[in-house]
Amino acid sequence: MTDTIEIEIEVLRAEARVEEALVRLRAHRATTNPTDLLDQEVALLLDAGDVDAALDCLDAAMAQIRADSSLQVTITLKQVEILLLADRRDEALDVLRDLAKTGKIPVAQTHHVIAFLLDLEKFETAARLGANPRVTAGAGLEPRLGMVLEHRRILAELGGAFPDEATFEATLARFGQIDGFYHNFRLRSGRTLFDVAPIKMNSPVETHDFTFREWDLICQLPIEFAGKRVLDVGGADGFFSIESARAGAAVTYLAPDPLFLQRAKLFAHHFGVEDKIEFKRGLLQRSFLHLNGRYDLVLALGLIYHLDNLALGLRTLMELSDTLVIETATGDVSWTEDRQAVLFQDHDPLDFDWVVGFFKRHGYGYVESTEWAEYVNRYPKSAGRRLACFSRR
Ligand SMILES: C[S@@+](CC[C@H](N)C(=O)[O-])C[C@H]1O[C@@H](n2cnc3c(N)ncnc32)[C@H](O)[C@@H]1O
Repeated sequence: MTDTIEIEIEVLRAEARVEEALVRLRAHRATTNPTDLLDQEVALLLDAGDVDAALDCLDAAMAQIRADSSLQVTITLKQVEILLLADRRDEALDVLRDLAKTGKIPVAQTHHVIAFLLDLEKFETAARLGANPRVTAGAGLEPRLGMVLEHRRILAELGGAFPDEATFEATLARFGQIDGFYHNFRLRSGRTLFDVAPIKMNSPVETHDFTFREWDLICQLPIEFAGKRVLDVGGADGFFSIESARAGAAVTYLAPDPLFLQRAKLFAHHFGVEDKIEFKRGLLQRSFLHLNGRYDLVLALGLIYHLDNLALGLRTLMELSDTLVIETATGDVSWTEDRQAVLFQDHDPLDFDWVVGFFKRHGYGYVESTEWAEYVNRYPKSAGRRLACFSRR
């Protein structure tokens, strides 16, 4: 039932019939729960350019759900996101402060809170939040915040400039000590990042060639980069944004984590493509489409197993492009010893066949890289990963 109405709403949105979509959605809502299709209602209101109505809608939903529900935090963070989107920074900060006072930020949400505070350049507030035992208890916020602040200290030492060639690798080694890198790069010195700095514990990169192999196989898919507008969602250290730019694309990098974003900028500078990449910090969301338009190609690599609502996330990706490359861990992956994945341990295992079926139902053709499946299955940390291109024309 929900699926049918989501499609109806999507069609109405695609035809810019926002008022009709809202009427339909509210009629549906009257028969279901208060948060059903809430993101869609908020997105519709933002489509209509009515930020206050979007915030009111979230307030109304909040008033109807249990005070101890984790949805309270999700909705609050959505409000912050909208306030930041609308550049209402003081209000966003007030909401975050109130949230911090409740001491109820779940593990999976803390990095978003820190990221918002960093966006707001409220480093002391972020530090105070990290020092609050009611918040840190069980939330693992303190080490995270420590990492962000250490990262910022190194950047401050650089005085806002990029490190020169002579100190570049030493700077990378310092960044790497904080939390390790997610990607491997072939640096201009001829060494790889693997030789210079630690690799993040949750990275599937186990061999020097892992990241390069993935890129080679992506290039064998029926897609083009030259002259195309490419969005890299969840870009981490930026390897795939940078390679896309080097292949001639105009790239938008999107990731929520400020540590990743800063490092990706550093690498883009190193490879001389910083002017071909637009760096945006944030989560995959529908409003992104309305602020930035559609893309010729979307890269969603190592992303979809992070999404809170897989179906909605995939729909958003479809709204963003008719051609998508999806790479993902699947339900076969073991999360043991994977720190980042522990944040997402309450997620359902990912069924890639379901993902393929979902795309097919929306008119997408599908080409999978069987070489990738063979390659990753040789390594315990990456076994079960899949890589495919989905396209509708
Ligand atoms: C597992 S890493 C994958 C990095 C890279 N794309 C790759 O495949 O090597 C996941 C990335 O997605 C980001 N991320 C997690 N949840 C996200 C969301 N809801 N929207 C956008 N990015 C997200 C993380 O910050 C990180 O950059």
